[in-house]
Amino acid sequence: MVKALLGGLNSISLPKVSHGQGCYVMDSTGKRYIDGSGGPAVFSLGHAHPEVNEAIKKQLDRIAHGYRYTFTSDPMIELTERIQQQCGPGFEHISYFCGGSEAIESALKIALQYHWAIGQKSRNRFIARDRSYHGNTLGALSVSGFAQRRKQYENSLIPCSFVSAANLYRPVVGGGEEALTDFLADELEQEILQLGAENVAAFIFEPVVGAAGGVVPAPESYPQKIREVCDRHGVLLISDEVMCGSGRCGHWRALEHYGGVRPDIMCIAKGLGGGYVPLGAVTFSDRIAQPIYEVDGELNTGHTFTGHTLACAAAAKVQEIVQRDGLVERVRAQGSSLIASLQAAVGDLEAVGDIRGRGHFVGVELVEDRDTRKPFDPDLRLADLIRARTLEAGLICYPVSGSVDGINGDVSIIAPPYIAGTSEFEEIAGKFETGLKIALADIKAY
Ligand SMILES: Cc1ncc(COP(=O)(O)O)c(C=O)c1O
Repeated sequence: MVKALLGGLNSISLPKVSHGQGCYVMDSTGKRYIDGSGGPAVFSLGHAHPEVNEAIKKQLDRIAHGYRYTFTSDPMIELTERIQQQCGPGFEHISYFCGGSEAIESALKIALQYHWAIGQKSRNRFIARDRSYHGNTLGALSVSGFAQRRKQYENSLIPCSFVSAANLYRPVVGGGEEALTDFLADELEQEILQLGAENVAAFIFEPVVGAAGGVVPAPESYPQKIREVCDRHGVLLISDEVMCGSGRCGHWRALEHYGGVRPDIMCIAKGLGGGYVPLGAVTFSDRIAQPIYEVDGELNTGHTFTGHTLACAAAAKVQEIVQRDGLVERVRAQGSSLIASLQAAVGDLEAVGDIRGRGHFVGVELVEDRDTRKPFDPDLRLADLIRARTLEAGLICYPVSGSVDGINGDVSIIAPPYIAGTSEFEEIAGKFETGLKIALADIKAY
């Protein structure tokens, strides 16, 4: 019955988007949706921001793009300065790409190029984590612990080792947060030793896991401990902040929350351009750049649209507004009230196992049994059902399936634009409650 229902819902052609305004999106029938997940955690400023639109128009009237081997540009210089102001030292070099996956590809290549340049050419292996997502191109997918998205390509992916997810709600060992962190740091170190440190290029992780885990913040001391492990073995640390960064979690860099731990290479995208333009970036330190520039003269990565001028102009305006209006601080201050609204609306439902997150990035994990944390039968496709039912109720949220082990586990991600406030949180929570209860009734769990 549920399959028939979902099949039915999915086969109804998607609503046709018409226009957006602030936290709202309208379809061609005039139906209004509150954008409770900013698309997939993208729309940091909301929709149709007049200043961003104006900046885009102005840039288009000048020139769309100055190709990177011929020109640099004011928008690129301004955007670079804004990112550097937000990040502080250790992020002296920035390259721009067309999205998150391209940024990850380049981060992996920069790690390899660095080791090549310092004469450690055997360092070509990557280590990543279970329940992680770093993108859909073959390289980015190779380092993603995301079974559903990998399965058809498994034999063509580059070799990568996977260590355990750092998930406090579903810890791989008991004994509390410190015990879990120690276990995970030790597991990473053992994997490096097993591969031979001289063969390992980098460890890649999301400080707050997005699409693969359903908003899973790393334990407090985890980033520092894995930083130390990587340093002991000359392994580079790549932080994937494509989804959780650019202010989404209440700090411009998600890792700032963790005592300011600095990766060697960081990837950003989504909130950087706020959804107005396709844009991703890789930023890295002088320490990484110097040998590369000395030996090779330049990064051996890039594309036709690398550093696209229009994209940089749009993102520079997005970042100017984020800074001017104190939106990162706003997101930090409001995070607990977003969670409180959701808690008040659905926290008492037996099927709600965990509501967690940071800033405007929250996951609601659904369970069949609260005590054992047993997930629902994956054939019920609960996360998709919730997405469909909440959409009917006028709310956009983001479904995660397979969050527990790649197959089981359902989470709904709530990630509103940074401009959202208390009244939007109440509306999101109310519509989420409506859609969730209908979805649970569909599967006879409410
Ligand atoms: C953490 C993370 N890294 C990388 C990507 C890939 O980004 P894109 O879809 O822009 O290629 C995503 C996309 O959801 C992501 O969440």
